Amino acid sequence: MQYSTILGIESSCDDTAAAVWQNGKILANIGASQEIHAKYGGVVPELASRAHQSHIIPVVHEALSAAGITAGQLDAIAFTQGPGLMGSLLVGIHVAKGMAMALGKPLIGVNHLQAHVSALYIGQPQPPFPLLVLLVSGGHTQLIRAEHHLNTQIAGSTIDDAAGEAFDKAAKLLGLNYPGGPEVDRYARMGNPHRFTFPESRVPGLDMSFSGLKTSLLYFLRRQTAENPEFIAQNLADICASYQHSIVEYLMHKLELAIAAEKPACLGLAGGVSANSLLRTRFAETGAKYGLPVLIPAFEYCTDNAAMIAAAGHYLLESGQKTPLNALPFTRNR
Ligand code: KG4
Ligand code: ZN
Repeated sequence: MQYSTILGIESSCDDTAAAVWQNGKILANIGASQEIHAKYGGVVPELASRAHQSHIIPVVHEALSAAGITAGQLDAIAFTQGPGLMGSLLVGIHVAKGMAMALGKPLIGVNHLQAHVSALYIGQPQPPFPLLVLLVSGGHTQLIRAEHHLNTQIAGSTIDDAAGEAFDKAAKLLGLNYPGGPEVDRYARMGNPHRFTFPESRVPGLDMSFSGLKTSLLYFLRRQTAENPEFIAQNLADICASYQHSIVEYLMHKLELAIAAEKPACLGLAGGVSANSLLRTRFAETGAKYGLPVLIPAFEYCTDNAAMIAAAGHYLLESGQKTPLNALPFTRNR
């Protein structure tokens, strides 16, 4: 059976998204983000699931109409099964099940992390394997070895916070808006990355840690603002640039260790933090240093989106997998 046209649905956190994949091309990639969380400085799960409920049907309709197709022309429905927030996942899974049932089409549950890796295949369906992927998102930070599209193994992982959390928590300490990553990135472009230094966590091998970095920023800001209450406002760009530099150089250090250990044929960058301007530049430079081709997704495929869910769904269906209609979401990675 050929699955030429696949609807992807993503609702794992605070983005409600739907996309249409057709024969390797993304015909539509629609998303509705939830501004309501900004005033709380982080995602409030109950508010997220309610917002998903009001957004999801219009978002699916918009994706189908932007793709110029009707629901009847779909060959399968792919949805994020996990990991994510239970209430958020449930909204997506119910809509996916309802559509699969009504249309009599197969359902395919997708692992959100696997989907971030699959985002790399949207522009490049046959990259040189093995591929070494640095996956950096708000909930996960991993070095993944992909032998083939779906054959992935975790080579290293954060033992505490994710890189995105390190950005978001720093932004909160600095009084910036949520999500903090893009804000820190924006101020960092105007600052001096060598003005302040934040110590690297010493975790052996390919594992990583970011909680010490955040704590060192916290103590640094406490010390400085005790002497000068205006310290943050007067030095915001330099603090952001120095802190961002620490995160990115730490990631590059671990990436270089992983290149030596895994001997990949290609490098890939995935997850929301891959939208970071310094990380994109440094990642490309590291690829060039080792003579390795580099895959960096277009911005619309970096943060949570449904195109990557549809793309991952395609590879799963192609390998003969399907998800039963009584499938349940999962909140932790497995
Ligand atoms: O992949 P994603 O959209 O959601 C999860 O699966 O977690 O990643 C969201 C994370 C947030 O922590 C956000 O602050 C971060 O990606 N992020 C960035 C940038 N854009 C998004 N971090 C640093 N610089 C950016 N430009
Ligand atoms: Zn994500």
